[in-house]
Amino acid sequence: MPKLSVNVDHVATLRQTRGGKQPDPVAAAIIAELAGADGIIVHLREDRRHIQDRDLELLRQVVKTRVNLEMANTEGIIQMALKVKPDLVTFVPERRQELTTEGGLDVQSHRTSLQKNIQKLKKAGIPSSLFIDADPLQVKASKQVGADCVEIHTGKYADAPDGQARRKEFLRIAQAIRQARRLGLRVNIGHGLDYQNVSPFTTLSGIEDYSIGHSIISRAVLVGLERAVREMKQLIQGFHCGERQER
Ligand code: PXP
Repeated sequence: MPKLSVNVDHVATLRQTRGGKQPDPVAAAIIAELAGADGIIVHLREDRRHIQDRDLELLRQVVKTRVNLEMANTEGIIQMALKVKPDLVTFVPERRQELTTEGGLDVQSHRTSLQKNIQKLKKAGIPSSLFIDADPLQVKASKQVGADCVEIHTGKYADAPDGQARRKEFLRIAQAIRQARRLGLRVNIGHGLDYQNVSPFTTLSGIEDYSIGHSIISRAVLVGLERAVREMKQLIQGFHCGERQER
């Protein structure tokens, strides 16, 4: 069964708007787990615009499933990962001005430093994933630099202007998943997935984990986090309103 990992960055974003203590992403993570989340994701940004070091340290202590730390490939954050020891590190490209992670990593251009840091994490017992576009060259390069896993970027699929463009993106993602699995890589997918667009992925095999944040936290504001997580988990497992969908 595919797994759902919930990104709680946006809970921290709301907290940071007042610079206070609430809402607490750690409390959100506990509720998400109780509702059936199989993992918790946070992106510790270099500018600490939402998740803080304190959040990550507490999450490491209280999360009972798995902590996936999204981060840039930079020395300071690598040291933080080595200290906290998440269950998975996902390397993402990071630009200070961006609203959210924009494109996938260019693994080829950062080959040497990625290889070095993946090895460093591996020695500490931490597996690495690379957030990449559905591009055969990036999948191949991910294997070559020693990644254990890739997360295929679904943003272009989510933002496709029409059905035809969306189908094209879906097929590219499906191909990238097959290629990654053939190379022995674990596969996660994420970015822009929501309650309306996630279901087609349940027809594909080889996806280990769905990484979803914005749509779940947005829905939680209106219906509550427990329900928002439970409903998304049902969708990724092919259930609609409690009934399993025919494939
Ligand atoms: N995967 C990665 C690598 C991301 O950077 C993000 C956004 O933080 C997500 C998944 C989740 O995307 P969304 O918030 O659109 O569900």
